[in-house]
Amino acid sequence: MAKLLYITANPKNTVKLSKGMQIGEVFLEEFQKIQPDVEIERWHLYDMDIPEIDMDLLYARAKLSFMGYTKDQLTEAERTKLEKMHALADRFIDADYYVFVTPLWNLGAPAILKSFMDNVFIAEKTFTNTESGPKGLLTNRKAIHIQTRGGIYSNGPMSEYEMGDRYLSKALEFLGFDQLETIVAEGMDHFPKQAPEIMAKAKEQAAEAAKEMAKTPVTL
Ligand SMILES: Cc1cc2nc3c(=O)[nH]c(=O)nc-3n(C[C@H](O)[C@H](O)[C@H](O)COP(=O)(O)O)c2cc1C
Repeated sequence: MAKLLYITANPKNTVKLSKGMQIGEVFLEEFQKIQPDVEIERWHLYDMDIPEIDMDLLYARAKLSFMGYTKDQLTEAERTKLEKMHALADRFIDADYYVFVTPLWNLGAPAILKSFMDNVFIAEKTFTNTESGPKGLLTNRKAIHIQTRGGIYSNGPMSEYEMGDRYLSKALEFLGFDQLETIVAEGMDHFPKQAPEIMAKAKEQAAEAAKEMAKTPVTL
């Protein structure tokens, strides 16, 4: 069965508190109308125990990559953490469609998103290094990023300062994703009177993007 991974990086724990998650629900609803058999798996990153790259993981990497150790020779902590990281990456790889929902926080995505992506960047699993540079292995995958922003970054003086969507889009591109789209709902904090209109437009775009994603099934 094909799977859609719905990844939210926002501590808000109910949809009604989060504008981004409200837009995300519209996407899911529309997607399910067309692809009712696709399994939707929700990953609320703040509810998950996301491994952080710490000293154990750094040692594990170095021992296996350059120091000639086998997995059995790692310490218990190193092995446990490494296995957890690989298990998370395997579950990530196992999906066909991906939806990320994040707010812009201090010019970037919430740090938990970066911690999460650190688990997914694994050489020879999700990318490989070739003579002509790194090559992503997660090809033929579609991703949508729904991003909310308090201010305006799509044009004007702040356009160079947005690094949340820029990071995620480039990271996914690096990993081989070939279809990426971002839906942005921006300016709602700075222009609250326009918020309903901005939300309505973003929901419309989300519904369209869902239809588009759903009608072209991936073939792995
Ligand atoms: C900690 C924090 C940092 C933020 N930093 C920015 C920022 O750098 N730029 C911006 O435009 N909005 C910023 N915002 C505003 C949010 O992006 C905005 O309120 C967004 O609509 C929240 O989406 P949500 O309702 O899905 O949580 C920040 C909000 C928080 C809580």
